[in-house]
Amino acid sequence: MRIVKKYLGTGIIIILVVLWASTVPCYAQSAGKERTSDEKVKKFLSKMRNQWRDFNVPEADGKILHEIIIKNQYKKALEIGTSTGHSAIWMAWALSKTGGRLITVEFDEGRYRQALANFQEAGLDKYIDARLADAHQLVHELRERFDFIFIDADKDWYTNYAKALIPKLEPGGCITAHNVEEPRAALKGRYSLSGTEEYYEYMKSLPEFETRIHPKSRAGVAVSYKKKNK
Ligand SMILES: C[S@@+](CC[C@H](N)C(=O)[O-])C[C@H]1O[C@@H](n2cnc3c(N)ncnc32)[C@H](O)[C@@H]1O
Repeated sequence: MRIVKKYLGTGIIIILVVLWASTVPCYAQSAGKERTSDEKVKKFLSKMRNQWRDFNVPEADGKILHEIIIKNQYKKALEIGTSTGHSAIWMAWALSKTGGRLITVEFDEGRYRQALANFQEAGLDKYIDARLADAHQLVHELRERFDFIFIDADKDWYTNYAKALIPKLEPGGCITAHNVEEPRAALKGRYSLSGTEEYYEYMKSLPEFETRIHPKSRAGVAVSYKKKNK
C-alpha cells in the first residue's frame, strides 16, 4: 500500500511538472511574437519618419491618438480620411494591443493603394479594414458602432460627419478631429466660421460631450468624450 501511494505521489508530481513545462514555451512564444510585431511597426515608423508627404498627421498627433485608444482600451475605431495611412498606423498599433480593429476610408485611389502597402509593411493590415469610398455617403451606410472616431478629411464637412456619426458612438467613447482651432473670441460673430471652427463650436454646444483641444497637439487635435451615462 505504501509503495502504491509513493508511486501515485511521484506520478502526480511528474504530471504537474510536465503540464507546467508545456505552458512555458507558449508564454515565451507569444511574448516573442508581440516583440516581433512591435519591432516591425517601430522599424516602419522610423523609416518613414520624414517621408510622409500626403497631408499626413505629424508624429506627435499620431502618438496622441495611440495614447487615447490605449488609455481607454477602445476596440472599435473609425477614421475618415486615410490618405497614405500615417494616423491609421498609430491607431491600428494601439488597437493591436487592445484587441480592436479600425475601419478607415479614403476616396483617392492612389493614396488608398499606398496606404494598403504601408499597412502590410508595418505588419498591421490584419487590424485594418481600409475602404475606398466617399465618406459623405459611407458614414450613413455604416451599420457598426464605434468607441473611437478620428475625422481628418474635408474640413467643411466636419460638422456633417459628427452629426452622422455621433449616434453610432458608444457612451464613454471619444470623437477626435484634426486641424481644429478654437474660434478667436474677439472675432467671433464678425466673420463666418471655418469648417473646423464650426465643428468645434458644435461639439462644445453638445451637453453629452466634453470637448477640448489636446494640449500636446500643435496642429489641433480636438478631443470630445461622450459621457458614460448618455
Ligand atoms: C489630411 S488627409 C488624411 C491624413 C491621414 N489621416 C494621415 O495622417 O495619414 C485627408 C484625406 O481625406 C481624403 N478625403 C477628403 N474628402 C474625402 C471624402 N469625402 N471621402 C473620403 N476621403 C476623403 C483626402 O483624399 C485625403 O487623402
